[in-house]
Amino acid sequence: TIIRPNLCKGFLFPPFLTEEWLEQASSIFKPRDTDLFVTSFPKSGTHWLSHIEYLLVCKEKLSKPLAGENATFFDIPQVDELQLVETEGSLSKGEQLKKLRIPKAMISALPDPRLFYTHFPYKFLPKNPATKYLYIYRNPKDVVVSMYNHLSNDVFHSDIGTFDEFFQFYVENNCFNHCEHIKGYFEHKDDPNFFILSYEDLHKNFKMKVDEIASFLGIELTEELYQLIAKETNFETMRENEFIKGKAFMKEGTSFFPKGKVGTWKSSLSKEQSEKIDEIFLSNIGKDFIKKYITYF
Ligand code: A3P
Repeated sequence: TIIRPNLCKGFLFPPFLTEEWLEQASSIFKPRDTDLFVTSFPKSGTHWLSHIEYLLVCKEKLSKPLAGENATFFDIPQVDELQLVETEGSLSKGEQLKKLRIPKAMISALPDPRLFYTHFPYKFLPKNPATKYLYIYRNPKDVVVSMYNHLSNDVFHSDIGTFDEFFQFYVENNCFNHCEHIKGYFEHKDDPNFFILSYEDLHKNFKMKVDEIASFLGIELTEELYQLIAKETNFETMRENEFIKGKAFMKEGTSFFPKGKVGTWKSSLSKEQSEKIDEIFLSNIGKDFIKKYITYF
C-alpha cells in the first residue's frame, strides 16, 4: 500500500498534510459571518450536498455565479486544498491543484456568501459562531467501498492494492478516524449554526431534507427552485458534469461517482469485513448512537 497516513494531533491525515500545515490551516483562514461550509468525512456525499447548497444560494443570494458564466459546484473552494495552495508551492499535489482550483487571491474577492467545503475534523475546522456549517455523514461500510474506488482510480495513487489489502490497512488504522470525525461534529449537533444530515436520509427524504437545508440557510424554497435542484442534483445529471467526466483526477475509464447508492457494501464486503466495521464503530461510537443515527445494522 502506498498511502501512509500522517498522525497529527490524534487524527490521521493524508501524507501530504503535516502538523505545521494543519496549524497554519486552522489559524490562517478566518471565516466571515456570511461564509457557508459543507463539511464531511471523505466519500460521504460532500459534492452532492455542496451542489444542493450551491444552487440554493446561487439562485437566491449571489448576484453572479462564483467563478464566471460556467461555474459549477466544483468551483466551491475546498478549504483543505486552499490551505495547501496557500502554504505550499513545492508539493506536487499542491502544484496540480493550483492549476485547477481558484487561487488564493480570488478567495477574498469572492462575493458573499462564499461557499467552501472541507474534510477537516471539527477540531481543525476554521470556526466562527455566525458562519453556517452543514455536516454530512454516511454509513461507514459504504464509505470504505467508495474510498477504495476513489483511491485506486485517482491519478495520485498508482497502486493501493486489492480491496482486501486496502480494507485491512484501513481498519488497522482505525478507519482513518471516521468515528472520531462523526463524534466531533455530533457534539455540536444542537449548535444553531450547525446542520447535520446523513447521506442515507438525503436519499430517502430528499425533498424534506432540501427543505430543511433551505430554512437553515434562510432561503425560501419555491416549487420552481426545488424542481431545479431535483433535476440538477440528480445522480445521472451530476455524473455527466464535465468536471466529473474529465477533470476529477480520475484515471481514464473510471468514475468519481461510480454508484451513488445506499448499501453498495453488501456486495463488496465479506461477512468478516462487515463485522470488523461493526466492532470498530461499536467500541468507538457506541450502540445507542449507532441505533439512533447510523442506518446500517
Ligand atoms: P459511491 O462511491 O458509492 O458511488 P464525496 O462527494 O464525499 O466524495 O462522496 C462521493 C459519493 O457520493 C460517491 O459514492 C458518489 O457516487 C456519491 N454521489 C455523488 N453525487 C451524488 C448524487 N447526486 N446522488 C447520490 N449520490 C451521489
